[in-house]
Amino acid sequence: MKRISDFSWQEYDALPVADKAECLSRPDGMPFHTIFAQQFGRASLDRLCDAATKIRAIAKSRAGMEFLQGLLFHKRAMIYFTQPSSRTFLSFLSACQILGLRTGEVRDASVSSEFKGESREDSIRTFSSYFDLIVMRTREKGLAERMAWALSRSKRPVPIINAGSGKDQHPTQALLDVYTLQRSFERRGGLRNRTIVYVGDLARGRTVRSLSRLLANYDGIRHVFVAPSPLRIGEDVLADLRAAGQTVEVSEDMAAWLPEADAVYMTRIQDEWDETSGESARIDTSRFKIGLEQMRLMRADAILMHPLPRRDEIAPEVDDDPRAMYWRQVRNGMWIRAALVASTFDCLSRIDHWFRDNL
Ligand code: NCD
Repeated sequence: MKRISDFSWQEYDALPVADKAECLSRPDGMPFHTIFAQQFGRASLDRLCDAATKIRAIAKSRAGMEFLQGLLFHKRAMIYFTQPSSRTFLSFLSACQILGLRTGEVRDASVSSEFKGESREDSIRTFSSYFDLIVMRTREKGLAERMAWALSRSKRPVPIINAGSGKDQHPTQALLDVYTLQRSFERRGGLRNRTIVYVGDLARGRTVRSLSRLLANYDGIRHVFVAPSPLRIGEDVLADLRAAGQTVEVSEDMAAWLPEADAVYMTRIQDEWDETSGESARIDTSRFKIGLEQMRLMRADAILMHPLPRRDEIAPEVDDDPRAMYWRQVRNGMWIRAALVASTFDCLSRIDHWFRDNL
């Protein structure tokens, strides 16, 4: 078993992703730090989805909530979000509250000592002394991973959950997306051999970069990446999926792919990353939007997803269509994040036992 504390940062950083994943996980294969989607295999995904469904059922009763609230009553979590967020922030806050964790938050680095010139690494290392878990969203791509390495070498390793790292990854969004897909297809043959059509800003959106890699754990998935050419998916993602034996297609024709889709995953244009002003506004995105007319092209048993927030890529009239899953995704997010936090502290078997004995 490779341990992160055995490596210098340069050595760790040069490791192949499978070795990094091993370093970040516990011996049972569940993540200790949750940094990127490639850490998850079918066993850990199934374990988390199952735990999310059990937590959801347990939380329905007062006795169940009392049990859940006692699970991590002795732990504290810091939610360190220095990039705009409300839903992921509240989702993690609610997930922690369900399990009884007390939370502290940093939302604006400009009011902390970083303003006095302290490095972000030093700030986070200081904060980690007060907490048992750090949930982190930042504009910098690799900061969560670097902090995972740094905190693993300290006397008191504190787990990190990446809640969005720049343009790179958003593994917990991908977990809730997979959980939503799994629930949608569980009575219809599961996730194997499905066609997933991802649409929008695939160059700068981190959700699709994580989700497509998680879905590579299911056999026979066809991944269709639909975007205007300046916003097309990165070659690194395509290479990973091909190496996993999956089928990939890259297209600029959304309408042609809608009838083929089992799931359509819409994303917004990420213009906060524009390097020159108005860069995104000059891209013609008119053919990458879903309204009632496009819904008619989709199959009756397909689903429509979105990580939210949306702009105009899904018209509000579509919300009443039973195939629209984005509000359910939000709710699923809270349960799967509760499952991930419980797993991080190795509490899943206690949840299994309570479920078996009481429900
Ligand atoms: C996404 C994100 O932050 O990457 N939002 C989220 O967490 N639900 C998607 C986005 O901002 O477009």
